[in-house]
Amino acid sequence: MTIPHDVDPSATGRMTCGTLRHENIGEEVVLRGWVNRRRDLGGVIFIDLRDRYGLTQIVFNPEIAPAVHEAASGVRAEYVLAVRGIVRERPEGTRNPKLATGDIEVEAHGLQVLNEAQTPPFEITQTADIDESVRLRHRYLDLRRKRLQENMVLRHAIVRAMREHLSDRGFIEVETPTLIKSTPEGARDFLVPSSSFAGNFYALPQSPQQMKQLLMVAGLDRYFQIARCFRDEPQRADRQPEFTQLDIEMSFVQESDLMRLMEDLYLELTERYSNKRIMTTPFPRLTYREAMDRFGNDRPDLRFGLELKDVSDAFLQTQFQAFAQTLATGGQVKAIVVPGCAGFSRREIDELTEVTKRAGARGLATFAVEASQTRSPIAKFLSEDEIAAMTSGISAQPGDMVMAVADEPAVVARALSALRDNLGQRLNLADPDVLAYCWVYEFPLLEWKNEESRWDATHNPFSGFLEEDAHFLESDPGRVRAKQYDLVGNGHELGGGSIRNHRRVDQQRVFTLMGYTAEDTNVRFGALLEALDYGAPPHGGIAMGIDRYVMVMANEDTIREVIAFPKNQRGLDLMFEAPDSVGLDQLGDLGISIEPELRVQLWNTERQ
Ligand code: AMO
Repeated sequence: MTIPHDVDPSATGRMTCGTLRHENIGEEVVLRGWVNRRRDLGGVIFIDLRDRYGLTQIVFNPEIAPAVHEAASGVRAEYVLAVRGIVRERPEGTRNPKLATGDIEVEAHGLQVLNEAQTPPFEITQTADIDESVRLRHRYLDLRRKRLQENMVLRHAIVRAMREHLSDRGFIEVETPTLIKSTPEGARDFLVPSSSFAGNFYALPQSPQQMKQLLMVAGLDRYFQIARCFRDEPQRADRQPEFTQLDIEMSFVQESDLMRLMEDLYLELTERYSNKRIMTTPFPRLTYREAMDRFGNDRPDLRFGLELKDVSDAFLQTQFQAFAQTLATGGQVKAIVVPGCAGFSRREIDELTEVTKRAGARGLATFAVEASQTRSPIAKFLSEDEIAAMTSGISAQPGDMVMAVADEPAVVARALSALRDNLGQRLNLADPDVLAYCWVYEFPLLEWKNEESRWDATHNPFSGFLEEDAHFLESDPGRVRAKQYDLVGNGHELGGGSIRNHRRVDQQRVFTLMGYTAEDTNVRFGALLEALDYGAPPHGGIAMGIDRYVMVMANEDTIREVIAFPKNQRGLDLMFEAPDSVGLDQLGDLGISIEPELRVQLWNTERQ
């Protein structure tokens, strides 16, 4: 796929290594770039000169320009050159149809070495895996590689299109500060001390949430920002301590308005910048309950089926203790039918059992359905009728494998969802050429935090609640549904947002449930609560993870591949070696002292 915005600047007069074609034959040109490869064929030297627009073959012939040929013989990989020469047709049989410039070559008449280069720690042209820590330590070399350059261009094109799409619809981009006050938003804050106010700390925003709500109170009714967010939380393949959101807020809207706006944008982006087929439009909308029941997950990958089925009814009278006890204590038995997989080997079943155990299940019950019987390691504990009731209830056919977990609902969901994802990969059911978007909405507003013995927001403490559930707020808080919606793509949470509480009384009610006293809320959220008293309009918004989206569009496995200078999996910057200790004088200015046992030289050990 060519990204339209990756324009070869030759249109503006600058010749690049991707410009020259058959029609340029005979022209005198000057090219600048890096030595991709040099081949010395005894007499003639060939150099492939590279820049981000392409490769051009340069020929140094000792009979045409002996001094230039002599200079070229000292050139090595990654030297930076300026070459002057004449474009000529490649001899018959040496054309390269895979290269845009493959019809021509440049006969060198002048050469200037603009800079030399040490031998890089990895070959820039190498496509095989390179140790990621080496890549991150020399990211400027890693970024010379085609794949990463394409990812950067794709990211630029997507962000540019986001800006244009929203600007065309009356949105304005407003920058909000990155030095703010520490407020709880789910993750831990990164704190920033200041020498002017020693002992006090700014915080880096986890998102511009409160600022964008204040912009609505200000009357700037359609806001967006390409916003950098900072969260001190454990890293994962799709998480970084700093990342970028397309952040949006609008006044006088409902859930469906934001869903429609995002759907239009993401349809446009997918169509313009990928070859992926969108699975279903309009994007399917699943309530949280439905997503959990059918997939055990609130960000289901809808590219394949393998839905979870409740088979508890088949075992209501069972003598099998493991199932009977689970059902008697409010648990459930749920199963996945894996079509045509009755022949799974012992090893495959062991591996799949391990997947469910890692997700918290005690075990995985398997049933190989055959025309005359159903084979199962636990068949001897169950009656034939029970097994038949289960298989017919979920329409399992001869040749299918049924895999079941019995436990409390949360464990069943986690285990079968992990099993489903594993099966999707194992059986190649998740087509990389398809993008299956869906909305998940009506999330619970609050969840019980055992460690803290209090209710906490599942997403965002500012999310509004469904009016019809308001009467449960004090009596049964876990039942209240939030006006919260997430956009999911191929199993990734691409973004999320909500309609907010725009009246102080509603917001205060939620804060009280979360265990905040009036004083707490005044200290933590005083500005926002006060603003709600000054005519705050009804409003709502959403934030889309840009790194995650580009990762999905570029078919990458981690967001590190679509970020120019990412932290590694542990949150370390291997190139600049950050975070790092600072001098005692710097700490003194800030009024900070470090415990002796923490005064370790992190990078002395990291480098070993
Ligand atoms: P939320 O916390 O759900 O919502 O974030 C929105 C989206 O940002 C992306 N994301 C991340 N990407 C990379 N690394 C991370 N550590 C990371 N954390 C989140 C995800 C996620 O869906 N203020 C609210 C939005 C709102 O309600 O308007 C918020 O930040 O794709």
